Amino acid sequence: MADLEQARDWLTQAKSVAILTGAGISAESGVPTFRGAGGLWKDHKAEDLATPEAFARDPRLVWEWYNWRREIIAKAAPNPGHKALVQIEIRKPRFTLITQNVDGLHDMAGSGKILKLHGDIWRMHCLDCKANFPNRRVPLPKMPPHCACGGMARPGVVWFGEPLPEGMMKEAEHAASSAEVFLVVGTSAAVYPAASLVPYAKQAGAKVIEINTEPTSMSKVVDCVLQGPAGELLPKLL
Ligand code: OAD
Repeated sequence: MADLEQARDWLTQAKSVAILTGAGISAESGVPTFRGAGGLWKDHKAEDLATPEAFARDPRLVWEWYNWRREIIAKAAPNPGHKALVQIEIRKPRFTLITQNVDGLHDMAGSGKILKLHGDIWRMHCLDCKANFPNRRVPLPKMPPHCACGGMARPGVVWFGEPLPEGMMKEAEHAASSAEVFLVVGTSAAVYPAASLVPYAKQAGAKVIEINTEPTSMSKVVDCVLQGPAGELLPKLL
């Protein structure tokens, strides 16, 4: 596969690498993606649940969805795709992993520098005292859960219509614009501003490599498309 060899060459030669991951990298760990087959939960789309409006309307429903995802993720382990990214990080002097995933599987695999653009499903945020605290309880005994202060807690994730954690997008843009190789793995690239990092890296001169089981809106923008499962293709790039 000539494309694979080309991608491996670019990656081997690069000193600075940035990577953007999405739900597809965790698919082979058994975590459902948001779009495409299996993306619905009880007929609800992610866009209908992951919003401040949905939470204000029905916090219990939104928490039931996150509780369902937490139960699945708690049983999941990093796959060879997550592990390959750790090996790339070890080999490169300048490396940034940018993820849209909230599942914590990159941490569990051993990745060091991770920009979690969309937060962390294992954290909660108190709507009253504003505390941000870890919580790994699975299943949640009571929904919605509450903070020690008595206030209602929300998931520690970024919802549609909300800004990303302060400064994080800037850091991601800096990594994308200074990378010689930018890898885009397992994301439909449908959610902004995360998806904007792909053309951003390309315009700044990076070789952009996409790994996905399906073509995406970015496939025509990138320099090289590797079609297939991330857990199989990423180890072949090492
Ligand atoms: P999506 O569900 O939109 O896209 C997952 C992508 O992974 C699709 O393009 C699939 O083709 C691809 N895919 C599936 N299995 C794969 C595999 N084994 N190897 C490689 N690729 C595979 O997920 P994201 O792009 O991550 O945000 O979605 C972005 C954001 O939308 C999420 O962070 C979440 C969601 O709503 C919030 O909740 C705010």
